[in-house]
Amino acid sequence: MYSFTVNGQPVTCEEDKELMHFLRDDLRLTGTKDGCDSGACGACTVIINGRASKSCLFSLSKVDGKDVTTVEGISQRQKDVFAYAFAKTGAVQCGYCIPGFVVSAVGLLEKNPDPSEKDIRKGIRANICRCTGYVKIIEGIQLAAQMLREETPIPEEPAEGRLGDDFKRVDAVEKTLGTGIYVDDIVVPGMLHASAVRSAYPRAKILKINSEKALAHPDCEAVLTAADVPGNNKIGHLEFISDWDVMIPEGEITRYVGDAIVLVVSSNKDSLTEIKELVEIEYEVLEPLTSCEQAMAEDAPKIHEKGNVLSHEHLIRGNVEEKLNNSKYVVTEHYSVPINEHAFMEPECAIGQPEGDGVLLWSAGQSIYDEQRECARMLGLEKEKVHVQAKLVGGGFGGKEDMSVQHHASLAAYLLKKPVKVLLSRDESLMVHPKRHGMEMDFTTGCDEEGNLTAMKAVIYSDTGAYASLGGPVLQRACTHAAGPYKYKDIDIEGFAVYTNNPPAGAFRGFGVCQTAFAIECNLNLLAEKVGISPWEIRYKNAVEPGDVLPNGQVVSKNAALKESLLAVKDAYENADVAGISCFFKNSGIGVGLSDIGRCIVSVEDGKVHVRTSAACIGQGMQTVTTQIAVEALDIDPALIIAEQPDTARTPDSGTTTASRQSLFTGEATRRAAMQLRVDLDMGRTLESLEGQEYFGEYSAITDPLNSEKENPVSHAGYGYASEVVTLDEKGKLEKIYASYDMGQVINPRAAEGQIEGGIVMGLGYALTENFAMEDGFVKAKYATLGLMDASKVPPIDTSFVAAKDIHEGLAYGIKGVGELSTIPTAPAVAGAYHAFDGELRNVLPIVNTPYQKKKR
Ligand code: FES
Repeated sequence: MYSFTVNGQPVTCEEDKELMHFLRDDLRLTGTKDGCDSGACGACTVIINGRASKSCLFSLSKVDGKDVTTVEGISQRQKDVFAYAFAKTGAVQCGYCIPGFVVSAVGLLEKNPDPSEKDIRKGIRANICRCTGYVKIIEGIQLAAQMLREETPIPEEPAEGRLGDDFKRVDAVEKTLGTGIYVDDIVVPGMLHASAVRSAYPRAKILKINSEKALAHPDCEAVLTAADVPGNNKIGHLEFISDWDVMIPEGEITRYVGDAIVLVVSSNKDSLTEIKELVEIEYEVLEPLTSCEQAMAEDAPKIHEKGNVLSHEHLIRGNVEEKLNNSKYVVTEHYSVPINEHAFMEPECAIGQPEGDGVLLWSAGQSIYDEQRECARMLGLEKEKVHVQAKLVGGGFGGKEDMSVQHHASLAAYLLKKPVKVLLSRDESLMVHPKRHGMEMDFTTGCDEEGNLTAMKAVIYSDTGAYASLGGPVLQRACTHAAGPYKYKDIDIEGFAVYTNNPPAGAFRGFGVCQTAFAIECNLNLLAEKVGISPWEIRYKNAVEPGDVLPNGQVVSKNAALKESLLAVKDAYENADVAGISCFFKNSGIGVGLSDIGRCIVSVEDGKVHVRTSAACIGQGMQTVTTQIAVEALDIDPALIIAEQPDTARTPDSGTTTASRQSLFTGEATRRAAMQLRVDLDMGRTLESLEGQEYFGEYSAITDPLNSEKENPVSHAGYGYASEVVTLDEKGKLEKIYASYDMGQVINPRAAEGQIEGGIVMGLGYALTENFAMEDGFVKAKYATLGLMDASKVPPIDTSFVAAKDIHEGLAYGIKGVGELSTIPTAPAVAGAYHAFDGELRNVLPIVNTPYQKKKR
């Protein structure tokens, strides 16, 4: 028997178990989050006898006789202060890490009430945040410390909520204090637990599955196989390429180590592993294909029936050979970038439960309507029979666009007619969900004697792993952006997305552009060197401005401000001893002729204005975005607005949270719906008199397909532009980042800064430290060895906004997305800084010979 106190109350337990699970499962203190269950992320931080500690590293026997405090147990004053300070400074995004930071900060401030910034960075370095880049969290702790020291009352701050206002996130308080509900925080009476047995090999034939021993386990409720799937055993984020097996059937060949073979369902989550070990699977082990080169070899076995090339793109404009032959300077380099992991803080979790003759699914993905479509098809049901509701999403970055747990939870709940939770362990999460594509790229770029770009040629091989996911569109974006935001016309860009037996690769912040931006931007630095001008100058000389034509043929819109962003960082670049620079662009919206629609219903209910969209908030603050747009359109008190969570029964299909599209697309749809209500209000109607009224807004972008015959095709609905400068100190350590962004009308400057800072820190990791370890198709990566940056390594970041004079040209008041753009220029700017530091070109990521990674390849 173990006895200790939790939040001042005595507790006992007979069994020795992990403290984190005891707090979450037995005491239902779910503010303590399970991020990695291996002591690497800090989301489960509690205070044990006055010391901030990771509760997943403690068993109950280790805390016997001690005092444990969780986020629920800090004082009311501390709760009020942290809720205010974190909301005020914009410290909260997806929120999954935040209670852990609050507890670490409480532990720090109790020892040191007046910490320096350095003390704070040190005090929170055991906590990882993948969203914020730590800047705003540090500011939040500084403000909280000051308020606690000075006994400052919580200020009453009237909020305007118009565009451009630092309006407090609508979900900031619940996320700060750990009361917000993520899927794994929910327990439904009678709920079962399911988990997949996954392939022991990246490529192997399944000869036989024997479930007999597993079924004999007293807790086992079912062992499901592909034969139990009532509808289609293939899922896939893109409807026209559904190539991903719900489970691999007997007699078929696995494609990667994340492949599910059976789904074990247990009445007790603690016995799942034991039951899984009782399932006997006979394999014929086959040699995996782990590179594009192997997979494209003539005699390579086919991973999918149609062959190993998922997609091939070839963008040709002008006459590249002639232009390169006539160029004064030409550089050709090979660039290599690795598979990269999202490392969102919340592992995937879903709960399915019977509802009528269909299912209700609680999910944390990036699009409830895609989940509905895929689950319905798998179950052989009409879409309406699959009802999907979103809970809070603890980060996504593209990694939660594909199904991971939703289909398995729906399947088990539908077949067993009971609620079923499927939760991935962190190791399983690393193994299963699609990654950023590793790419091998040959880039040739030319310019004249003054540094005016003339032409470019690129060949790109993209490792798309075992399944299609979004590998085709990612390759397209890699190609459409490969020439950069520069005014030259002659391009020849060929790309191949190739199936391998590595984990699937799909959407990840930047969507293929982080890879090709690295290549073209490094080539620009080499050309600048040959011409004898600075890397800043070659960019400014070639940067597009309104009315110019991008290399993909699209006319640059009036609200583009790339040159302004370059001017904003010019002094920082030129005054630094050692600096690197990059500027880039990123589309908002799916574009290239595909259907792309934002939808919103604005309804008046109980005297309030409900904004109903299915746009998933994966941390970016979607409900706050639509609230501010509705306030702008309606000119009313933001307290009257309720932005609802996505629910297929309430909110119209607003498309996936992808392609930096939601603020623009669902934002414009929200504006259109709200403006209809505005007309009624302007006619003197009151909200009371409009009770029950609904107003529907929709925005559908018209774009042209790739390789359109048009002289100036519209590839995308809009583009954001940015420039970043990275400076190094005399030891080659990161000194400061200067970022200047054109995101059109800034909705919420503090939230936008947070997005940019978070994107930059993710880019720093991609450039310098991150490593997703693989060996012959087996995933060796662990959360602790991913190389994620902690607060002590992140340099100061100076963010500013620029805008064209025609800022409001365009949709949704001139808003442009920034979610992805913020990660793109960072790696090339870092590589440029080290090139300037020691003259060595870094053409492989993560770069080596830095204080962050010493060893030579
Ligand atoms: Fe920190 Fe999302 S807010 S991980």
